[in-house]
Amino acid sequence: MKTSSSIIVYASLVGAAFGFVIPQARDSSSNSTTYNETQILQLALTLEHLESAFFSGALTAFNDTDFTDDGLPVWARGRFSEIASQEQSHVQLLTSTLGSNAVQACNYSFPYTSPASFAALAQVLSGVGVSAYAGGAQYLTTKQYITNAAAILSTEARHAAWIAGPVNKGNPWSGPYDTPLTVGSAYSLGAQFITSCPSFNQLSVKAFPSLTLSNTTLGQPSSVTAGNNVTVEGQYVAFFSGLNTTFVQVSNGQVVIPSNSMGTSYAVLTNSNGTATDDTITAGVAVLQFPYGSGGDLETNGRMEMAEAMM
Ligand SMILES: *[C@@H]1O[C@H](CO)[C@@H](O)[C@H](O)[C@H]1NC(C)=O
Ligand SMILES: *[C@@H]1O[C@H](CO)[C@@H](O)[C@H](O)[C@H]1NC(C)=O
Ligand SMILES: *[C@@H]1O[C@H](CO)[C@@H](O)[C@H](O)[C@H]1NC(C)=O
Ligand SMILES: *[C@@H]1O[C@H](CO)[C@@H](O)[C@H](O)[C@H]1NC(C)=O
Ligand SMILES: *[C@@H]1O[C@H](CO)[C@@H](O)[C@H](O)[C@H]1NC(C)=O
Ligand SMILES: *[C@@H]1O[C@H](CO)[C@@H](O)[C@H](O)[C@H]1NC(C)=O
Ligand SMILES: *[C@@H]1O[C@H](CO)[C@@H](O)[C@H](O)[C@H]1NC(C)=O
Ligand SMILES: *[C@@H]1O[C@H](CO)[C@@H](O)[C@H](O)[C@H]1NC(C)=O
Repeated sequence: MKTSSSIIVYASLVGAAFGFVIPQARDSSSNSTTYNETQILQLALTLEHLESAFFSGALTAFNDTDFTDDGLPVWARGRFSEIASQEQSHVQLLTSTLGSNAVQACNYSFPYTSPASFAALAQVLSGVGVSAYAGGAQYLTTKQYITNAAAILSTEARHAAWIAGPVNKGNPWSGPYDTPLTVGSAYSLGAQFITSCPSFNQLSVKAFPSLTLSNTTLGQPSSVTAGNNVTVEGQYVAFFSGLNTTFVQVSNGQVVIPSNSMGTSYAVLTNSNGTATDDTITAGVAVLQFPYGSGGDLETNGRMEMAEAMM
């Protein structure tokens, strides 16, 4: 039986000090950051390269016996190799789509130490993939690319559901809606695992400073801290859960966790109480899990770790 105790605290997944952000075009009239289709496809390819390296790396690191010794089902490793190969296919499609604008693979460092901690991080990363495509969709304009992105998104969602459900014995979906992430948020979640990239990628260092929420229990106060000396007091924590965004002002270093959060949710710090975009986000992203059982009973304790049985 795999245990969650050895699993690294992934919920405080943070924007790394090292990283890059795809250059943003600021629309001076509306104050909203916008992205063109090439930039979105480059972000998608960046994350696909990362996922491809993540899954194939774990297969190199751990054999069948390692998987079963760590309490993972005997069939899990075989399916993870299907996923690795599908991520590679996504890389090839996007590389071919982007042509000379294609970004290349980077070097990565993933913090898993065992098949079970790999599976826990796999749940987070496949969820980030889904949220990145959902959030980036609005910027795609070419019909064929929208179709391709939809076909990739639904496959990523199947990966995420299989990992969260059969492998990690949790809820296979979050609710009626997956949670879209802003482009900068999705990038920040991936960037923390990137250690270096080819200069060809023309990376400029920027990811949101880290955001950590402690003791995340629905309806209860949680302490908020941010990296890079970002002030949290008086700012807002925007909770993304499904299509809902709930703003809570930080007071005495704390926010009360909204009780409508469910499944995989994310939190960012904003300087606005009504808009959470790459213009207003000042730190993030914290990944929050509010698992629920097959009877629909929502567990009130948000978890940093995953993979405890609750079917
Ligand atoms: C997209 O934005 C990037 C970065 O600002 C720019 O270099 C590129 O020319 C733009 N592409 C299109 C098709 O507008
Ligand atoms: C699997 O890997 C472990 C080390 O992680 C090693 O001890 C074992 O011999 C390997 N088993 C097979 C069948 O290769
Ligand atoms: C990856 O790391 C190796 C070893 O440090 C280095 O030689 C290589 O240039 C790096 N590659 C990229 C793409 O950053
Ligand atoms: C975490 O929240 C629970 C439930 O509200 C509370 O009992 C506990 O004291 C809190 N722990 C910390 C360290 O704040
Ligand atoms: C935070 O502020 C302290 C005191 O001003 C400074 O020494 C430190 O370098 C700052 N840290 C960061 C990450 O900016
Ligand atoms: C928003 O949260 C409420 C619970 O407060 C939930 O019933 C509803 O489905 C959510 N809506 C969306 C669009 O996620
Ligand atoms: C949001 O901020 C505005 C301006 O400070 C204020 O008027 C409004 O009451 C605030 N709304 C909420 C829900 O806090
Ligand atoms: C643009 O966004 C910033 C930060 O949220 C805000 O302070 C400013 O008032 C906004 N400007 C306009 C014109 O909306």
